[in-house]
Amino acid sequence: MTDRIAVVGSNMVDLVTYVERMPDRGETVEAPDFAQGFGGKGANQAVAAARLGADVAMVTCIGDDMFGPLVRQNLVDSGIDVTHVRKVDGAASGVAPIFVEPDGENAILIVKGANASLSPADIDAAEETLKDRDAILLQLEVSLETVYHAVAFGAKHGVPTILNPAPADPQLDISRLSGLDWFCPNESELALLSGLPTGTDDEVIAAARSLIARGIRNVVVTLGGRGARHVTADDVTDIAPVKVEPVDTTGAGDAFIGSFARFLSAGEAPDAALARAARYAAQSITARGTQTSYADAAGFERFCAGLPQD
Ligand code: RIB
Ligand code: NA
Repeated sequence: MTDRIAVVGSNMVDLVTYVERMPDRGETVEAPDFAQGFGGKGANQAVAAARLGADVAMVTCIGDDMFGPLVRQNLVDSGIDVTHVRKVDGAASGVAPIFVEPDGENAILIVKGANASLSPADIDAAEETLKDRDAILLQLEVSLETVYHAVAFGAKHGVPTILNPAPADPQLDISRLSGLDWFCPNESELALLSGLPTGTDDEVIAAARSLIARGIRNVVVTLGGRGARHVTADDVTDIAPVKVEPVDTTGAGDAFIGSFARFLSAGEAPDAALARAARYAAQSITARGTQTSYADAAGFERFCAGLPQD
């Protein structure tokens, strides 16, 4: 039986401009290239997991504009169950103007639109779909109340929950995440949410443990080019970085989370799943776009076969 994953979260239409350099205030600059794609941290994670073979359902809101049907169709085309994709009358779909510089680094604006309407009631309406999943994935492009409700839902039904606290939100109340299984911030999100410094290895571990002391089981801190660190109450495991020539880093974090959920749900040991997820994310930064850059299972195996053996 394949693993069954649900994403409760966002979708966006990505409006990606490839720039030679960012304009200054008041300045007009010509850019060489543009692409429209499908994104949003929730949808990206869903697509990554589905492309690797997971059975994925998504609980999300679309607008009643011209983008809404396209977003829904993109999920359908990705093999994702859209039973709980809700159209919000009078709302625009979420959009993300994105700027990618020649070194592959990006700057992103998000306009939540209909995503802001995803509510605890949407989770309750999807109870039959959600209650026997192998994992529920969450991000912060929808309301915090919805995220808290999903964590509580997972705890109540024994469904593991994975929260990627991006984009960073200082309002996130850690005390309402008790029972969360996996919390996956980057260093700056960890610093913001723990209120502690994360400049050294020991500081990262201490900050992660401060969250574990508040009821979160596992903290996975992504460290950019230095890999990731998995911290529990008793253990610390380092996940090695995967070196590639970056083309477009947009959505790499989502590739990491979505593929991790897939590998973990398929029965891999957590640290093996994290190591493979780091490779999946690395693969995604070697190609343009977000979902457009995510490999399927066969493409991922080819990428891994081409990596230096250690
Ligand atoms: O994480 C990358 C994503 O952030 C983009 O797809 C964009 O839509 C924003 O949500
Ligand atoms: Na990419």
